[in-house]
Amino acid sequence: MFKNQGTMDVSVLPQVLQWKQGGAGVEDLEPEVRSPVDEVFDQFLKGNTIFKNRDVLRHDYVPEKLPHREEEIRTLASILAPALKGQKCSNVFIYGKTGTGKTAVARYVLDKLTAKARQIGAPVVACYINCRMAGTEYRILASLCEALGVKVPFTGLAKAEVLERFKKALIGREFVFIIMLDEVDVLVKAHGDALLYELTRLNPELKGSKICLIGISNDLTFKEHLDPRVLSSLSEEEMVFKPYNASQLRDILWDRAREAFVDGAVSEAVIGLCAALSAQEHGDARRALDLLRVAGEIAEREGARKVEVEHVRKAVKCIEYDRIVEAIRSLPLHAKLILLAVYEKTKKVSSVITGEIYAAYSAICSRMGLTPLTQRRISSIINELDMMGLLNAQLVNMGRYGRTKKIRLAVQRSIVREILTQEGLT
Ligand SMILES: Nc1ncnc2c1ncn2[C@@H]1O[C@H](COP(=O)(O)OP(=O)(O)OP(=O)(O)O)[C@@H](O)[C@H]1O
Ligand SMILES: [Mg+2]
Repeated sequence: MFKNQGTMDVSVLPQVLQWKQGGAGVEDLEPEVRSPVDEVFDQFLKGNTIFKNRDVLRHDYVPEKLPHREEEIRTLASILAPALKGQKCSNVFIYGKTGTGKTAVARYVLDKLTAKARQIGAPVVACYINCRMAGTEYRILASLCEALGVKVPFTGLAKAEVLERFKKALIGREFVFIIMLDEVDVLVKAHGDALLYELTRLNPELKGSKICLIGISNDLTFKEHLDPRVLSSLSEEEMVFKPYNASQLRDILWDRAREAFVDGAVSEAVIGLCAALSAQEHGDARRALDLLRVAGEIAEREGARKVEVEHVRKAVKCIEYDRIVEAIRSLPLHAKLILLAVYEKTKKVSSVITGEIYAAYSAICSRMGLTPLTQRRISSIINELDMMGLLNAQLVNMGRYGRTKKIRLAVQRSIVREILTQEGLT
């Protein structure tokens, strides 16, 4: 719908707006004059009063400037700089909460480094891999091979064979190979740290080439899952990215807003609110940018000429709604059934205890011809749903009956009903 927005002849715009302001609004035209095509065009023209280039607000857009990360950029650049002289650089472990700019900074520095290396003819090869996207150790190794120009079939080879091909591509060469493993915790949680172990120990075998590893994670407890040898090797250098505060988020948003929106479409009040709301959570720049983009889209859809504070408030609800929908949809079946049990049991009361939920859940299972999971498993699913913010479970003392949990829905009932109905569970 917006793809060709940039190709529109903007010279038409002032006339249309003037004509609208003159009293004969689009809505006032005679029905026979307005065709569906006119409606599309009018909407299109209206839309352009908000966004100049909405792509600037996309998650994968790497801006030319990253305000309030100058120090981190300099630190990472100085750790990687020896690569330009063909020297081995330290492995780095970068961590910090979600949306603190880890990926943006790492990619930014890597792009600059490879550009510089090309310019001076330094033998630097870099490979950025998002471990969540890659999914398996095989795919990660295959990407490493591809970065060195070695083709590997999509599947089919043994992991050891791919590792061999990778080593072969490096042995006897003079490459400094920089491997950036983003969201590395996802790899370790799914497949353990065997691949990291291999990669951290390869250097002595390479006779000439050197590998430098950069691991990135937003899971601060992830280090506990690593073998101490892998951990000490991976974190020769450590960088911690702190959450942004409201004023830093404001600067980040303004930088993007100037490129994304037409002049005057956003105000200090709008930017300030997006920044304040995101700082209250955990200083997440992604959330702040999402809020601003969704607020802009709502304003555009409403045909407004400017983004207002009210649009930001609507965006909060809209994003929260999407988050809940996404979270519920991706639950495994039995977790959905627990949610359904809580939904059914809290129709008349605000909260229920674990035993009642288990009974209701078992009844749902027998209604559907399924074997219920054990009560112990159900307790742990309830804890997970609590952590996800879908349920609220509070431990209460029942006197001589011991302790139990009082559980209630932590999200709007109507949303839970809507999604479980769509999934054919109610
Ligand atoms: N200092 C900054 N200036 C401009 N944009 C930024 C800055 N920091 C983060 N962003 C933007 O915020 C969004 C989130 O940043 P990024 O993806 O780097 O977060 P992250 O720390 O990698 O989060 P996660 O742990 O969830 O992967 C991106 O769109 C990024 O461009
Ligand atoms: Mg990231």
